[in-house]
Order: sequence, then C-alpha cells, then structure tokens
Amino acid sequence: MRTVLVTGADRGIGHALCRACHARGDTVVAACLGESDELRALGIQVEPGIDVTSEDAVRGLAESLARTGTTLDILINNAGIAGPDHVLGALDYDDIRRQVEVNALGPLRVTEALLERLKPGSTVAFITSRIGSLGDNHSGGLYGYRISKCAVNMVAVNLAHDLATRGIGAVVLHPGMVATAMTFDDERAEARPPEEAAAALIERIERAGQTEPGTPPAFWHAPERTTIPW
Ligand SMILES: NC(=O)c1ccc[n+]([C@@H]2O[C@H](COP(=O)([O-])OP(=O)(O)OC[C@H]3O[C@@H](n4cnc5c(N)ncnc54)[C@H](OP(=O)(O)O)[C@@H]3O)[C@@H](O)[C@H]2O)c1
Repeated sequence: MRTVLVTGADRGIGHALCRACHARGDTVVAACLGESDELRALGIQVEPGIDVTSEDAVRGLAESLARTGTTLDILINNAGIAGPDHVLGALDYDDIRRQVEVNALGPLRVTEALLERLKPGSTVAFITSRIGSLGDNHSGGLYGYRISKCAVNMVAVNLAHDLATRGIGAVVLHPGMVATAMTFDDERAEARPPEEAAAALIERIERAGQTEPGTPPAFWHAPERTTIPW
C-alpha cells in the first residue's frame, strides 16, 4: 500500500487527487491550507494549516510525519494560486511576488522539508502549468502566474538532479484546463472536471515512477499524454 501526500488539498485538483488515491487504496495525507472535514470523513489523514509559504507550518508537517514514522511513496506539490491579469503599465509587484512565493518557492520548501520522509523509489510530482512554458508563450500577459510557473519548472528540474542521488524521481505535470476556483468563468465550458484531471495526473505519476531516477523529467500535459516545450 502506497502513501501519498498532496499539498493544497482543500479543494480543486488537490482534493480530487486525495479522493482518487484514497479510492484506489493508498494511504493519503491531505496537507490543507485550511481544513477538510470532507476528506477526514473519508478516513483520510488531514494535516490542517499547511501554508506552503510558511517555514514553521512546513517544518511542523515534516515533524508530524516523522513522529509517526511515515514515509512517502508519492509527494504531490499541487498547492497554487493565480492572481488577476494585471496589464503592463499597471503591474502589481506584491501580487507577482506572492505567486512566486506560493507557486515556485512553496514546492521547493515542501520538498526540502520532507526529504527525510522520501526514500529510494519515491516520486515527487510538481503540478505546474503550460502557462509557465517559455516555448508555448504565444500571448504574453499573466506576468505573475507565468513567472511563478516557469520558476517552478526550474525548481523541479533542478531538484530532479539532487533527488536522483537519493533514488527519488521527479515529474512535471500540466493538469489541462480544469474546472476549479482558479478557472476563469469564460474557460469553464471547455474545462475538465477535477476528477478527470486527477486520474490523468495519477496515471502519469505512476509512469514516471517506473522510469530510472535521474532521467531528465519532461514537461507533461497529463490528460493529453503529450509533452510541452519548456
Ligand atoms: N485549474 C486549472 O485549469 C489549472 C491549470 C493549470 C495548472 N493548475 C495548477 O493546479 C494546481 C491546483 O489548482 P486548482 O485548479 O485545484 O486551484 P484551486 O481550486 O484554487 O485550489 C488551489 C489549492 O491550493 C491551496 N493553496 C492556496 N494557497 C496556498 C498556500 N499558500 N499554501 C498551501 N495551499 C495553498 C488552496 O487552499 P484554499 O482552498 O484554502 O485557498 C487550494 O486548496 C495549482 O498549482 C494550479 O496552478 C490548475
């Protein structure tokens, strides 16, 4: 039986990932920014108050797992935010900094804190976005989200090198356009349900777990099973 930890499990894709992993028999640790009575009611271990920007909260999570001797087969860095699309000439640098703090430094902070909870054969997944692709940027805009997701891609590729020395794999995943609180209203019609995205993400994480740690990670569009240029 595998143990999976998901950050940003309160709602959206993270919530769906927890439910899907629990349904297939995994032991799931749901790291929530707030709480989740719904996940608790399913018998999922909920770790509340895990703000990925907080050293104390993330260290507390690591200590809580260490106390119970929990090791992780899969760590899914899912927590993320998207700010409003401020246009050039009216950029909000505090908002950009906040997105970098959550979306890029958050996964680094969590992965570093949980290093001793990972083991040879574990996989660390990064839920990024194609919006962070340099090669796929055909429209500009969305400065904070683009910068932060581009940065987390580098975090993931960089970590992949260090993790490989411990026999741990890394995988970089775009979930597709998913109907969550993050999706703009005009995108909802073409967006996938979170459950469908979660199934595709889990499938790709499983495939990644079968590749040799140290294999340079690709940037996967999980539902379409294609790669995205960095
Ligand atoms: N939806 C899409 O179309 C789409 C596309 C590409 C990539 N993604 C990525 O997929 C991931 C999940 O997004 P989603 O669509 O499920 O969005 P969502 O519904 O807004 O969920 C985001 C989750 O992250 C949590 N969170 C926010 N700030 C946090 C922090 N500082 N520390 C810990 N958790 C925090 C939120 O907690 P609260 O609920 O308490 O705020 C929530 O549980 C994100 O990384 C996002 O960038 C989404």
